Amino acid sequence: MEFINLKAQYTAYKDEIDGAVQRVCANAAFIMGGEVADLESSLAKYTGAAHAISCSSGTDALVLALMALGIGCGDEVITSPFTFIATAEAIALVGATTVFADIDLSDCNIYAALIERAITPKTKAIMPVSLYGQCADMDTINAIAARHNLAVIEDGCQSFGALYRGKKSGNVSTIGTTSFFPSKPLGCYGDGGAIFTSDNELAARLAMLRNHGQSARYEHKVVGINGRLDAIQAAILNVKLRHFDAELSRRAELRTRYDRLLAKGGVTVVGEGAKSVTAQYSVRVKHRDRVAALLNAKGVPTAVHYPKPLHLQEAFAALGYARGDFPLSEQAADEVLSLPFSPFLTEAEQDTVANALDEAIKEAAC
Ligand SMILES: Cc1ncc(COP(=O)(O)O)c(C=O)c1O
Repeated sequence: MEFINLKAQYTAYKDEIDGAVQRVCANAAFIMGGEVADLESSLAKYTGAAHAISCSSGTDALVLALMALGIGCGDEVITSPFTFIATAEAIALVGATTVFADIDLSDCNIYAALIERAITPKTKAIMPVSLYGQCADMDTINAIAARHNLAVIEDGCQSFGALYRGKKSGNVSTIGTTSFFPSKPLGCYGDGGAIFTSDNELAARLAMLRNHGQSARYEHKVVGINGRLDAIQAAILNVKLRHFDAELSRRAELRTRYDRLLAKGGVTVVGEGAKSVTAQYSVRVKHRDRVAALLNAKGVPTAVHYPKPLHLQEAFAALGYARGDFPLSEQAADEVLSLPFSPFLTEAEQDTVANALDEAIKEAAC
């Protein structure tokens, strides 16, 4: 059993993907060009944002969003400690300081009610993460941001396609970002990402920043980065985007089925008005490491997203946080376990996972 069945997905779209890649090779237009422009207009249409700017990864999408907002040294950005390192890494890379606020255990996203007390005169932005494919409490977060004149950058690296009160992830804040890492809900065959905004000025700045700050050939208005998406990845994404809504429907069916099969497990709740793309199907279990080992021994692959919250990572020691500062993030890090999930998971595999999990939980408790 595969944790995420990317091989089955490739087999399903093989002819289209092979053809798209060959066309790029035949045209030898590998950087920017038609495939990238087509993808950007499809992504903007899909999310409802006025602009989609493709880029080299989800990490670079976050860095570029911060750069475009002019956030840097002396500024603070509030985010969740229970996320992939890239979220806080991007803040550090632009020279700003990360300030953490704890999560809500029901969905493992930042707990909006805790954000306001983390705001200081140095705060410039809030960066909620749409963890496991579900947006955070964006209405509350946007209202807090408006009251304090802050930008909101959605780290939507796991949530492309998710819905929040009728709006698509990427289009629920000042700037939204996503990742096209292969295992993401919409993944390419290497690294890739995108940034979304409906602010024309920010969009123009983002497009410049991701291409060495270039406004016209060899005219560099600002210091930027090489943050471009390549044409082969764009061509693959153009194919996969055509199948994406069908995949999301299958994801939703399989999620509901898991919820039913695992009714006793600590499944993550989908909030009111939200639609998750279930980037990860994660449960919370006691004796997590033992349960994972027992599952792996039964041939069920698992993963932990994430075993150590960011405030306890050595890389962020200088921020001065200690164990106990964000107890719910620490509890989640001890208990979460991601189960095999993708639109190509079979129902028979799901039954195997559910039975094995049931047994493993009982065995681990002995
Ligand atoms: C929440 C989150 N933020 C940022 C990233 C970074 O994306 P990438 O791997 O494309 O740089 C990821 C990807 O793993 C992620 O899950």
